[in-house]
Amino acid sequence: MVKLSSQKPIHSKSELLAIPVCEDHDLFDDPIVRKLVQKATQMVEFSGKKDERLIFYEATGFQAKRVLFIGMGKLDKLNSETLRQVAGLAVKEALHKKLSTLDLFLPLDQLSSIEKTMQVHAMLEGAGLANHVYEKYKKEQKKKPLKTIRLLIPSSEVKQYTKLADQVSIISHATHLAREWVNMPPNDKPPLAFAKMITEFALKANLNVSLIKEKELIEKKFGAMLAVASGSDHRPCLLILEYQSPQTQKRVALVGKGITFDSGGINLKSSLHMGDMKADMSGAATVAATLLAVAKLKPDMNIIGILPLAENLPSGHAYRPGDIVRAYGGKTIEIGNTDAEGRLILADAMAYTVDSFKPDIMIDLATLTGACVVALGPKIAGVFSLDDSLTNAIIQAGEYTHERCWRMPMPEDYKKLIKSDIADIRNVSHNRWGGAISAALFLSEFVSETRWAHIDIAGPAYGKKNNSYTPSGASGFGVRLLCNLLQRI
Ligand code: BES
Ligand code: ZN
Ligand code: ZN
Repeated sequence: MVKLSSQKPIHSKSELLAIPVCEDHDLFDDPIVRKLVQKATQMVEFSGKKDERLIFYEATGFQAKRVLFIGMGKLDKLNSETLRQVAGLAVKEALHKKLSTLDLFLPLDQLSSIEKTMQVHAMLEGAGLANHVYEKYKKEQKKKPLKTIRLLIPSSEVKQYTKLADQVSIISHATHLAREWVNMPPNDKPPLAFAKMITEFALKANLNVSLIKEKELIEKKFGAMLAVASGSDHRPCLLILEYQSPQTQKRVALVGKGITFDSGGINLKSSLHMGDMKADMSGAATVAATLLAVAKLKPDMNIIGILPLAENLPSGHAYRPGDIVRAYGGKTIEIGNTDAEGRLILADAMAYTVDSFKPDIMIDLATLTGACVVALGPKIAGVFSLDDSLTNAIIQAGEYTHERCWRMPMPEDYKKLIKSDIADIRNVSHNRWGGAISAALFLSEFVSETRWAHIDIAGPAYGKKNNSYTPSGASGFGVRLLCNLLQRI
């Protein structure tokens, strides 16, 4: 989907040739390119400031039909995120114009403040991530993704970065899939249907797939998950995806919260934005998409994806506040609030994962708490772990991919907030303060001695449009993060 080419920009025959420019530096050696850039910056509406755009049609000396200039701002302010944004903008412009071919040209050697591989990576990634259209639920599908996107770089460098371009294509595609699953309406993705969708992709990708259905969940005593699912007519299930590497014994488990719709249950949510709770399976979507990418990237590690899937609805069968349920492994949980359901399905799923797979490292991703969004806003995920090196790896991966993660505390003394008088633990604290922390502390009771981190993605998983390569709705947050993280642990 995103490729490299050694073609010179003036020879590009694409429908759109995009050339990013800086407002305070001339980056171009080629006299024809330089001349057109000068012409562009002489226009009143264009000076190279960030996000400015200007198009020339059939420009002299160029074979491309259109040349698009995109402002990047000042040279010393540039970073890899600027490049992602710029590439994303170029793709958006081409999609908007219903084109099918795009070439991007940037003389990367001029941007010495950013490491070269990172530059190539960011440009390809911005373009790959932006090249996604979701019109499945429209009667007429008007836009199509671009057929070819090429980054024009010197011929001596094409070979060196070809593998990177392939990896970016794989990961972008997986991110698109995650977004599509999250955007899908909840009536089309009840637990078993969602599991089936993922299974089809997973089998094609040669992953091992196993599905634990309700009968087996009852036998295995997944009491917390069954309680959450009890209000819905749709049955819960646990989907397990496995990637095996012949080289090593090392095993990483990725667990994703998969609530296909969270109404709150008997503790019904307010109607405002309740529809957004179709995105409460974002953790599961990210984990599934990551495993599909992993199947192609073939890292030297065994990776298991564990997806507890359930729907949280109120009904005459629903679990209630006051109930006590028994989680996998035997711990009893007093239900203080049926809207704190994510931690319940994760408790069962993680206890089961530790028991049956004994992973070296376990990471869970979950749209777990509104409190985490209050703390960190809509774009930053919270990381909770007592393992410093795992936490640092996650934070560094997030810095690299610009899926920002911030470490949050897990103070031992806060555990008293989730003490229950009559059960082993309560699923919520008695007051609303520190809600993201008490949720993480609750989860920590179900991971035994396993090296573990919890990533609360309630903010960044879903929301209003936030940048040029991420559309509104589902962001696909976490797929790149996890793929990058797997190279660091
Ligand atoms: N799925 C929600 C958390 C959420 C909130 C995700 C906003 C995305 C955006 C979760 O199940 C929930 O409802 N949590 C409650 C916990 C409370 C009852 C302790 C919350 O955050 O209000
Ligand atoms: Zn909830
Ligand atoms: Zn939820």
